[in-house]
Amino acid sequence: MNNLHELILHRRSIRKYSEEHISPECVKIILEAALVAPSSKGKMPCQFVVIEDKNVLTELANSKDFGTKPLESCPLAVVVTSNPEISDCWVEDASIAAIFMQLQAEDCGLGSCWIQIANRLKEDGTSSEDYVRNLLSIPDEIRILCIVTFGKKDEDRKPYDPEKCKWEKIHIGKWRTEN
Ligand SMILES: Cc1cc2nc3c(=O)[nH]c(=O)nc-3n(C[C@H](O)[C@H](O)[C@H](O)COP(=O)(O)O)c2cc1C
Repeated sequence: MNNLHELILHRRSIRKYSEEHISPECVKIILEAALVAPSSKGKMPCQFVVIEDKNVLTELANSKDFGTKPLESCPLAVVVTSNPEISDCWVEDASIAAIFMQLQAEDCGLGSCWIQIANRLKEDGTSSEDYVRNLLSIPDEIRILCIVTFGKKDEDRKPYDPEKCKWEKIHIGKWRTEN
C-alpha cells in the first residue's frame, strides 16, 4: 500500500490465516516497528516473545475461553510484554508497540489480530496472564498485555468506509452535546 490513510482504512482484524510462510524480511520489519514505537519519556519498557512453534501457538490458544481463534491458524504470534517498574505508562507503551506491528504487517500485505491477555480469565477462573507467563517463563515483574497474531489473510474483510465515520464524536473547540 502506498499511502498511510489507505492502509489505515484497510487494516481489519484477521482471524483466519493461510498456511503460507511469512518471509524473514517481513518478520524483521514487524519487530523493528515494535522496537521503534514511541514510549513515555523514551523509557521503552516493552519486550516481545516471538512464537512460530505450532505446538506453542496451540497452547496459547488455550489462554482464555474465547477470542483466541486467530492463534489456531497463524504462523506467527508476538507476545507483547511491558515492565511497570520501568514505566507507569506501560499499558500505553505496549499498546502503541502492538498497533505499530499491526500497521507494519498490513503494509507487508499480512493480516493481524490483537488478542487481549491482561485482565482476562480462563474458563476455570484462573488468570490468562499467569497461564501465558508460566507457558513462556516470563518473569513475575513483567506484565503481559496482549498477543498479536500475524499471517497471510485467509478471509476477506471490507475496509472501513470513511463516509460512515461518526463525526458527532468530534467536538470542535469545546464539548458539544448536540452537533
Ligand atoms: C484492546 C483490544 C483487545 C482486543 N481483544 C481481542 C481478542 O481477545 N480477540 C480477538 O479476536 N480480537 C480482539 N481485538 C480485536 C477487536 O475485536 C477488533 O479490533 C474490533 O472488533 C474492530 O475490528 P477491526 O480490528 O477489524 O477494525 C481486540 C482489540 C483491541 C484494541
